[in-house]
Amino acid sequence: MKIGIVLGSTRPGRLGDQVARWVHDRAARRGDAEFALIDLRDHPLPHLEAPPGFSGQYRDERTRAWAATVAACDGFVFVTPEYNHSVPGVLKNALDHVHVEWNTKAAGFVSYGGVGGARSVEQLRLVCGALQLADVAPQVTLPLATEFADRAVFEPGEHQLPALDLLLDHVVAWSTALATLRRGDAEAAIRQRLDAIVGGLRSKDLEALRRLYAPDVVSFDVEPPLQHVGVDAKLANWAKVFTFFEKVDYELRDLVIAVSGDLAVGHGFGRVSGTLKNGVVADGMWVRATFVFRHTGDGWVIVHDQASVPFDMATGRGMTELEP
Ligand SMILES: Cc1cc2nc3c(=O)[nH]c(=O)nc-3n(C[C@H](O)[C@H](O)[C@H](O)COP(=O)(O)O)c2cc1C
Repeated sequence: MKIGIVLGSTRPGRLGDQVARWVHDRAARRGDAEFALIDLRDHPLPHLEAPPGFSGQYRDERTRAWAATVAACDGFVFVTPEYNHSVPGVLKNALDHVHVEWNTKAAGFVSYGGVGGARSVEQLRLVCGALQLADVAPQVTLPLATEFADRAVFEPGEHQLPALDLLLDHVVAWSTALATLRRGDAEAAIRQRLDAIVGGLRSKDLEALRRLYAPDVVSFDVEPPLQHVGVDAKLANWAKVFTFFEKVDYELRDLVIAVSGDLAVGHGFGRVSGTLKNGVVADGMWVRATFVFRHTGDGWVIVHDQASVPFDMATGRGMTELEP
């Protein structure tokens, strides 16, 4: 489990960093999850200029980086002040920027302000509903008058620690439970990506295929050299297939997919077949295929693949006649 502690204030002279550090220090002592401090100052997003769409694909580099940061987490603790009875604009903007990356995850709240930031959290809970973020009930509320010396130096009362622990217990438990649900969604998305490979090959559409690979993909394809590094090298390999085949088909069978966080592995058997340029129908050979996906600002993309046939030890020859 990876839980992001989102610091929702970027104001110069903010008090929020003291609170976020307190949350992070306490959380880091736990052994049940990894906790990462996510400071919105490190994600200077523009004001939302285009509808995010719910596709998980974004054109703006800053949005892609933000999407990857959110996607990498299984749950969140929002550390938020209250501005004019509501959520800081910078936090709302960050929430609005992406969508699927928040879905089916858990959220807890640590708030501070004149009246402890309670009204800000009430509004955040509504926003979380729209983002399919499940909000846990335990909450830490820190009034400036009682928890900050001179309303400036954070000195939380002892009773705040058990409240924080309870909040973290709930966020980790709910994040763990929801990860099971999300794995099903991720598997469906990855199967769609692999279907898109089949579609891209059948239509010989190299640009459609390009979208399925990470720019720095490392491919251990059946053909030499030992590795094809980068998406251009991978596409050159597919382009070579298109020079042999007039009509291309591709089958993938016995596909098994395992997902963990923002990484996924799939394995199965693949076969390129079709009609050669000279009109001969070629059945092709079955290869063992392995795919490693990473979830990025462009959705799930292949960062590594491997296609191979076993070899006969006696002759040293690849065995291309095997059937799954
Ligand atoms: C623009 C603005 C509006 C505020 N409005 C409220 C408010 O409505 N209710 C409240 O309890 N505190 C309010 N405060 C006080 C803040 O909660 C407090 O200053 C807090 O330290 C702000 O968080 P930050 O220092 O991390 O930016 C407001 C502060 C600012 C700057």
